[in-house]
Amino acid sequence: MLLGKWVALVAVVMEATAAFPSSLLIKNEDANITRNCFGSPGEQVEWKQNGQTLEDSGGELVINNLDIPYAGNYSCWAGPRLLHSFYVVMWLNHSYFFKAEGTKKEPAITCWAPSYSGTLNCSWKSQNPATFLVHLKHRDTEAELCSTEVVLPGNRMVQIQLNNCSFCSYAEEMPVILVLKGLSEDGGGYNEVNKTFLLWDVVKPDAPAYLNITGRKVSWAPPASWDLPTTYFPLQYSLRLESASGSQENFLLDEKELITEQNWYKAQIRCQDPLINSSWSSWQEWKK
Ligand SMILES: *[C@@H]1O[C@H](CO)[C@@H](O)[C@H](O)[C@H]1NC(C)=O
Ligand SMILES: *[C@@H]1O[C@H](CO)[C@@H](O)[C@H](O)[C@H]1NC(C)=O
Ligand SMILES: *[C@@H]1O[C@H](CO)[C@@H](O)[C@H](O)[C@H]1NC(C)=O
Ligand SMILES: *[C@@H]1O[C@H](CO)[C@@H](O)[C@H](O)[C@H]1NC(C)=O
Ligand SMILES: *[C@@H]1O[C@H](CO)[C@@H](O)[C@H](O)[C@H]1NC(C)=O
Ligand SMILES: *[C@@H]1O[C@H](CO)[C@@H](O)[C@H](O)[C@H]1NC(C)=O
Ligand SMILES: *[C@@H]1O[C@H](CO)[C@@H](O)[C@H](O)[C@H]1NC(C)=O
Ligand SMILES: *[C@@H]1O[C@H](CO)[C@@H](O)[C@H](O)[C@H]1NC(C)=O
Repeated sequence: MLLGKWVALVAVVMEATAAFPSSLLIKNEDANITRNCFGSPGEQVEWKQNGQTLEDSGGELVINNLDIPYAGNYSCWAGPRLLHSFYVVMWLNHSYFFKAEGTKKEPAITCWAPSYSGTLNCSWKSQNPATFLVHLKHRDTEAELCSTEVVLPGNRMVQIQLNNCSFCSYAEEMPVILVLKGLSEDGGGYNEVNKTFLLWDVVKPDAPAYLNITGRKVSWAPPASWDLPTTYFPLQYSLRLESASGSQENFLLDEKELITEQNWYKAQIRCQDPLINSSWSSWQEWKK
């Protein structure tokens, strides 16, 4: 059922046209903002909010007691010439965007990487419709590894995918920061959440590509998304076989097949990276 939501979500993402504003001015509710703008000597200047001229503003912009209707794109013009622009947002509690959990009421954001080759998925429960700008950065150098911008609906589990992240395959212990910037649908409310983790703490392989039983031979393959060669990126498999009478046998294996002494009715297999003791994949199942 979740899959249906994610499919709908992908459609939303592709229709997204909103560009997350750059040059944000982030202020708390009720803040006062004053900005001056100067043209060439003798030149008339005026301020606009979201394209609408602010009458009699002259060169001085004053916003008192910031509230959502005063947020948005402010620009200063000398006739047709743009002199200056910035985007005012009001800091909202993160609980407007993310469902918080636990005693600390921190946003509950879960990330996992199906391999070391540059894909990271993250998921959380969204509270209100919003646009998110997501960056993954190296914690120490602040180098950007990948980013994406998505428009997400509110009040449901959402999932995003970061692609082409430049992880270094041999530095999976690398500390990274996920920076999630949220802008409310009306364009006025803002929050930013950082999540620091080690890449190898979030590795979770996809399920094995298949599981076949032919007579007494059980065979399987690594998930298609896993890194090759498997000599560098080994996987360990947990195989559970069940006979027609319901008796079970469990195996922990490095190989990709097993010859058994009897026929089986049902089987399940999952995998993990044994070098870092990663999370286990979900199960791949076979049933006679
Ligand atoms: C804000 O307005 C300026 C001037 O019209 C424009 O160049 C800029 O793209 C706008 N920014 C956003 C985020 O809409
Ligand atoms: C903003 O200005 C008003 C008066 O215009 C004042 O009452 C208020 O305390 C100021 N707010 C802040 C955050 O300084
Ligand atoms: C956010 O709002 C919730 C609920 O209103 C509150 O419990 C929490 O302390 C707030 N968090 C911050 C960081 O202000
Ligand atoms: C990551 O997310 C994308 C779409 O958001 C989904 O298609 C893909 O299956 C997800 N990957 C994993 C490993 O769940
Ligand atoms: C990843 O990068 C490759 C080449 O650099 C590009 O062709 C591909 O479209 C990118 N994939 C995504 C999902 O951005
Ligand atoms: C999140 O991290 C970025 C860069 O690493 C930093 O500029 C920003 O201040 C941090 N934000 C918060 C809310 O801690
Ligand atoms: C395993 O089964 C899949 C699909 O049922 C099939 O495509 C594949 O060829 C089989 N592989 C082996 C090694 O039998
Ligand atoms: C691997 O992780 C699991 C669960 O976190 C733990 O119970 C187990 O002892 C670990 N195994 C090794 C070999 O570190």
